Formats: sequence, structure tokens, C-alpha cells
Amino acid sequence: MESTTSENADERSYTDNSKSTKQQPKQQLSKAMEHMRFAVTVDPIPRSSSTSTPTSPPLPDTATPQTPAEPESDAYGVPASIAPIRKPAHRSHSPSNNQKRTDPFAFGSRFLEEGDNIFEFNAWDHVDVDPAYQTFSSEQYERQRAEPVSDFDKKRFNDNPEKWWNIFYKNNKTNFFKNRKWLAQEFPVLGEVTKEDSAPAVVLEVGAGAGNSAFPILQNRKNKGLKIHACDFSKKAVELIREHELYDPEFIQADVWDVAASPESENGGLPPGIKEGSVDVVLMIFIFSALNPKQWDQAVKNVWRVLKPGGQVLFRDYGRGDLAQVRFKKGRYMEENFYVRGDGTRVYFFEKEELEEIWGGKQRSSHSETDTPSGEQTNGQADEPPAQQLLSLQLDKEAEDSREVLSTESQRPAFEIVHFGIDRRMLVNRQRRLKMYRCWMQAVFRKPGHQSEVPTSTLRQDKEKEDGEGEEA
Ligand SMILES: C[S@@+](CC[C@H](N)C(=O)[O-])C[C@H]1O[C@@H](n2cnc3c(N)ncnc32)[C@H](O)[C@@H]1O
Repeated sequence: MESTTSENADERSYTDNSKSTKQQPKQQLSKAMEHMRFAVTVDPIPRSSSTSTPTSPPLPDTATPQTPAEPESDAYGVPASIAPIRKPAHRSHSPSNNQKRTDPFAFGSRFLEEGDNIFEFNAWDHVDVDPAYQTFSSEQYERQRAEPVSDFDKKRFNDNPEKWWNIFYKNNKTNFFKNRKWLAQEFPVLGEVTKEDSAPAVVLEVGAGAGNSAFPILQNRKNKGLKIHACDFSKKAVELIREHELYDPEFIQADVWDVAASPESENGGLPPGIKEGSVDVVLMIFIFSALNPKQWDQAVKNVWRVLKPGGQVLFRDYGRGDLAQVRFKKGRYMEENFYVRGDGTRVYFFEKEELEEIWGGKQRSSHSETDTPSGEQTNGQADEPPAQQLLSLQLDKEAEDSREVLSTESQRPAFEIVHFGIDRRMLVNRQRRLKMYRCWMQAVFRKPGHQSEVPTSTLRQDKEKEDGEGEEA
């Protein structure tokens, strides 16, 4: 069985918080996380399929294991009867050429096909869910909307979000998120910048948490000119990074910084020690989803400002329909696709088009705090060049220009969307016979220009496609 390094590492673990723990298999939460159980798990789960919510008729599972198996269980409220769509069995069933068994194992190669035993692997890649799941999700969203967070609580969670993350890190130290060693697989440039013969590079991780993404990069560092800045708006998170045994301010510097800081705040709203137009790579891993949609525009502007022309953003975050969204119960819904977890931290679930809009400067967001009052002209008319594109051409000339132009405009800067991948995976818990449908968005956004010497990253998914096409040609 191959390793599943990235499968559970993307964010919070999903484990059982059923009260009747007696018959449950081994619990997966560490002691330090016990008090967080309510926040990272769902209730009631898992139940046997015989107690499934009868939302949709069970679909025939054409290729369920030929070997007799125990019945599947509902996964975090999702009925076991929901079945993933399978591909025709043409890729993998030649024992001599089975892509699911490549050595070394490659992510993205485990296609679920007719005849495959779902529980044979820990995860399947590029899994599409069937219409029953869509129906089920819509029903869940209706329930969530029907019992939203109270206005009082909304204010509590939105007014001082770092407070909740401080509490989170106080309670969880470094052991909550796993080290994201797989990041360099997903964004190959993260491997490139560490190489001895690579050009000097500045990498800024935004929302770095306890450093689970930054330290694996540091550990591979052979490039003497590589400097990592790890920023987070939670003081506690920054403390954890600074206390880490590998922390050395010569190579990695951790600071408190709110990515949505206003230009009037300290250092003109930029991270301590970072000048405008000085960063090659901004890493944003499950941080954008932690923002209130009203903060998106300011965050994107700040990221634009720190980047050199030609600099890039490596982005990974939650996609709409992810299990983490579908499983939310009453009292968590704040606004469309935006929720608060049991620990007071917030989470948003994105659509591809929405992210393209936000980062590509295509349209103004209905969420923007600086929205044009109704009646005023907006950008992004389909048949005329978006003002932001012209803006970015101007900015291409010199990094200095960007501040001037952006500070006088309430527009979004227009990043080039170099790569965009939707990572849909079905994770499998063989012991509990659960299937979990995950959906993550992954992208590379590039600030136009040529000052950064760091090559623009590919995405693993796109690279595989290109390689595959090359082979067939
Ligand atoms: C889900 S955690 C991800 C941590 C880290 N990126 C990782 O992959 O392990 C989200 C992080 O974003 C941070 N965060 C949330 N809002 C932020 C903001 N406005 N500015 C900076 N960091 C923020 C939180 O404190 C938290 O550490």
C-alpha cells in the first residue's frame, strides 16, 4: 500500500466524535487535541449504512469488490449509498502496467475504475461524485442556512479573528497540522528554489501557522540565497515557529502580520522587514479561506504589493462541496459558503470561477468592503478590456508603480492565472469502511513582469497532463 502523505495532511483530520465510543475503532486524536474533538470532527458518525439518512436511493455500485466485504458506513453524515463515478477499466488492469502501482508512487495516478475495490487504497484521485451527492450536499446547505450563527456570535467571530487562532495554537502547539512535505510535489518550484545552484529567492509564507509548510522547505535548503519569511496574524503561531528547533532568523524569519492589513498600519501594511516588490514566491496554504470575504480585496492587494513583477503566489485551499463544508451542522453558517468552526475559526469554500475573479481582477466582488456604490460604473465588462489589465501592463514596468496606482484605485490587481487545478479525492478509511469526498483548489497566480528570477511553478496536476500528452504524441 502506498503512502498517503498528503491525503490527511491538508487540514484538520476527520475523526469520530461519536459519544458511543465503545464499538468505535481506535481514536485518532492525540491527547493534546482531545478538547478540540468537537471542532474537528462531526456528529453523529460513523453509523452503519443501515441507519443512513434516506436522502437518495442507493445507486448500484457496479464495481464494488468482488470479495465479500462488510457493509460500508456513513461518512460524517454522508450516506454510504453515495457512490463515486468510476472510469472505464482501461488504464490499470494490466498487472504489468498498472498506474496505481507505480514505483515510486506518484500522486494523481489512482483512478477509480470499474472493477476496483474502493478499499484497496487509502485514496483515489480525480474522483467525481455522482448526482446523489450533489443532492445530498444541497439538502445539507439548506439545513445549514436554516439555522445560521446568531448576529451576536457573527460579530464575536468576525471582530477579532486572531483571538480564536491564538486560542487554537495555545491548545494545539505544533502537533495539529502535519508537516506538508508533499508541497514541493504539488508546486515543483518549491523544490527548485532550495537547490544549490538556484538564483537567490525570497519566499513569504502567509498564514504560516506553526510552520508546517515553511520548515520542510527550510530543511531542503541548499540555496544560500534563499530566505524564508513566515508570517501569521496569530502571535501564538509566530511564537511556535520561533521556538522551533530549526528556527534560525538568518534563514527563516517569523513575524506577526495580517495579510488584510490596511496601508495605514505599520510598515505601510506590509510584513515587518519586507519591502514593496521584494518577494519572489508567496505561499498561501489554507489561509485565504480563513478570511472574511470582505477582506479578500485588501489581502490580494497586499500580496500584489510585496511581490516582485514576475513573482508568483502558490495557492491551495478548500473547494466547494468538500466534506468539511457538507458536514457542517446547525449554528455554523455565517453567510454563503462561509462558516465558523466549533473553535471560533472561520472557513470559506471556493469555486474555481470565484478565485479566478478574485485573483484575476476580472470583476468586483459583491463582498468587497470598497464596493462601488450602486449606479457607478464597474470593471470587467465582457466586451472591453478590463481596466485592471491595463493597470497590470502599467505595473509591469516597475514595481514602484504598483503602490501608487493601487492605492489610488479601489480595483483588484490582475494576476495571471498560470495554473488552476481542482483536486478531488476520495479518501478511504478501510478500517471503518468510510469514503470521504474531498475537494481542494490549487493554483499558481503570477504578477505580470520579469523581475523575479524564480521560474514560474507548474502544478503537479498540470505537469502530469503535459507529460501524459507528451507520451501519447
Ligand atoms: C488553516 S491554518 C493553515 C496554516 C498553514 N498555512 C499550514 O498550512 O499549516 C490558517 C492560518 O492562517 C492564519 N490566518 C488567518 N487569518 C489571517 C490573516 N488575516 N493574516 C494572516 N494570517 C491569518 C491563522 O492564524 C492560521 O495559522
